[in-house]
Amino acid sequence: MDAQQALISRRSIRRYKNQPIPMDIIKQIIDAARLAPTANNRQPWEFVAVTERDMREKIAGLATYGKFIAQAAACIAVYCKDTKYYLEDGSAATQNILLSAWAQGVGSCWVAGDKKPYAQPISQLLGVPEGYKLVSLIALGYPAENPTPHHKRELNEVLHLEKF
Ligand SMILES: Cc1cc2nc3c(=O)[nH]c(=O)nc-3n(C[C@H](O)[C@H](O)[C@H](O)COP(=O)(O)O)c2cc1C
Repeated sequence: MDAQQALISRRSIRRYKNQPIPMDIIKQIIDAARLAPTANNRQPWEFVAVTERDMREKIAGLATYGKFIAQAAACIAVYCKDTKYYLEDGSAATQNILLSAWAQGVGSCWVAGDKKPYAQPISQLLGVPEGYKLVSLIALGYPAENPTPHHKRELNEVLHLEKF
């Protein structure tokens, strides 16, 4: 699947087959994340890949709108050192994960991390040192649903040529 096709066809997937994702695919997905653009090339990110059910259930129990993490094959927690552009950098890495996964047939859903009250308890569960921000949690799994795409604002609504 080429990049444009992945961008066009991706949608959030919250129901997954009971099928593990091979570790080499998970590694390829994280490899795509670490290549994301980053302010001043700081690359402040760290990625925690959780496949064990027990830990996924604990994370799901804490993440208000991420209960489906319990049924996912994996959950990637995206952390960034608390730098000026941590949120932009971590978000770029997160988007790379969604697109790389989709291009390889793996569904995903971005679950909020930054600013959430559950960021701290999840960091504690995962043994994350002080000074790191949880940017996102990403549920990954082979899709068991084919949701109708969300309405997206049309190009001519959002594009301003030359001036707003
Ligand atoms: C910053 C951010 C936080 C999100 N948090 C959640 C979340 O906590 N739970 C969830 O189910 N979806 C979450 N989403 C996914 C959005 O709901 C989803 O991207 C949006 O509805 C558009 O659907 P699509 O991804 O299929 O295009 C989040 C997306 C972003 C960008």
